[in-house]
Amino acid sequence: MAPSPREASPKLSQAMEDCREKVNKTISSLLPQTDLAEAPLFDAMRYAALGGGKRLRPFMVLEGARVFGVDAGRARRVAAAAEFVHCYSLVHDDLPAMDNADLRRGKPSLHKAYGEATALLAGDALLTLAFEILSDTETHEDPRVRIELVSNLAGAIGMHGMVGGQMLDLIGEKQEFDVGTISRLQRLKTGKLIAFCCEAGAILGKANPAHRQSLRNYAHDLGLAFQVTDDLLDVEGDAKDLGKPTGQDAKKATFVSAMGRDQARARAEMLVEQAISHLRVFDEGRVDLLKDLAHYVLERRV
Ligand code: IPE
Ligand code: IPE
Ligand code: MG
Ligand code: MG
Ligand code: MG
Repeated sequence: MAPSPREASPKLSQAMEDCREKVNKTISSLLPQTDLAEAPLFDAMRYAALGGGKRLRPFMVLEGARVFGVDAGRARRVAAAAEFVHCYSLVHDDLPAMDNADLRRGKPSLHKAYGEATALLAGDALLTLAFEILSDTETHEDPRVRIELVSNLAGAIGMHGMVGGQMLDLIGEKQEFDVGTISRLQRLKTGKLIAFCCEAGAILGKANPAHRQSLRNYAHDLGLAFQVTDDLLDVEGDAKDLGKPTGQDAKKATFVSAMGRDQARARAEMLVEQAISHLRVFDEGRVDLLKDLAHYVLERRV
């Protein structure tokens, strides 16, 4: 049964809570706490990475890893790496030169709390730390697996991924895009990191190509649905619940601005059903939470 609107199913809520708790511990253990002179950088990284966030990307990594019976400790390291990248992207996204947002996860955004220069550096350091984690033998003993993780993440978040998408997002403020270009923009800026997260378990577990492709297809549709919902929440959501400003996207190229709320929602619903259909190849018990997650992505209010 699909979870009721506004809430995740009890099983999903519990699993997401477990994930948050465990991944927060891993994140904390991977961030230094020292009294070196550059310690304000570390404080800023902790500020950006701890104390908030749904941890949806880590959840995708852990659930994908569960499908392939991957060791949970390894999966948590990859989950933390993906979250570090996500946090870096939010820090830079909020900067005055980008979205100029003062609030993130219910707190002043990093540049408000620590200044722009430190926010830039903390973002850079979080991004770099992610690759350091993936390339460490503790993440996987097989160097081919480590290289695959590194190269997949790099492909997902660089010029042909998240950064390219953010560039399109900025250009879209000044230039009208058709729906095809908006869809590409969103797949790049948000979808590709989500796809990495869903696929990481398959990489760690050396899954067969067909299974890996099915997870990739799931992520492809889920990632786009996720961004459409984010854009809907910018119009319909409550800034207090979301912990970030709403009404920010009036000048942005989104499905909501291009086709209106109803059609955007209908498209997100279609994408979520499509995402779930890609999980048919797996035993039901292994992917039940990934199915619930797809409904949650659509119905979330935070
Ligand atoms: C927000 O992502 C940024 C987008 C890519 C739309 P989330 O909604 O996952 O933000 P947190 O991690 O829960 O704060
Ligand atoms: C952010 O998209 C995407 C990345 C950070 C890569 P948004 O700008 O829509 O995210 P929010 O709404 O500020 O969280
Ligand atoms: Mg943005
Ligand atoms: Mg933004
Ligand atoms: Mg947004």
